[in-house]
Amino acid sequence: MALLKILTYGNETLRKPCKAIDKITPELIELAKDMLETMYDAPGCGLAAPQIGKNIRLVVIDTAIPDEEDPNPYIMFNPEWEPEQESEQVSHEEGCLSLPGIWGEVTRASKVKVRYMDINGNQQEISGCEGLFARCIQHETDHLDGKLFVDKISAADRAMNASKLKKLAKENS
Ligand code: NI
Repeated sequence: MALLKILTYGNETLRKPCKAIDKITPELIELAKDMLETMYDAPGCGLAAPQIGKNIRLVVIDTAIPDEEDPNPYIMFNPEWEPEQESEQVSHEEGCLSLPGIWGEVTRASKVKVRYMDINGNQQEISGCEGLFARCIQHETDHLDGKLFVDKISAADRAMNASKLKKLAKENS
């Protein structure tokens, strides 16, 4: 197990679309476990492969509350989500390990279904994902398409964070 370096805003790898994974290998499982360790260490509740420099469709998520709930890690290859029928658009504050010190309100689906391949290569489907888990699935999947939450915040929130964003981008240029 190893801690990986988390890339920050301005790094081009964060903006590239990621490749689907055909076959699970021991290297991919090792990488996913390292990503979980890196996420817990940060600490954060989700991490996508481009954030550690790999443009592949892999995310890790654990939205259990540290020290209060048992860990509940998910490793998802090729995740895809769709809103459930009763889903509503809800706004909530988000942050991102690649955007330290930046927060903003993002509107997303409240209830989703996610499909992905697990570490054994089996297709999985989870219906009725809600709350932070639903939000995290959408946020991490966005990373795989080169999208960041700051692309989706209001003009007012972007203006408020403009100098921090500029500073981060400059550190990576
Ligand atoms: Ni993020």
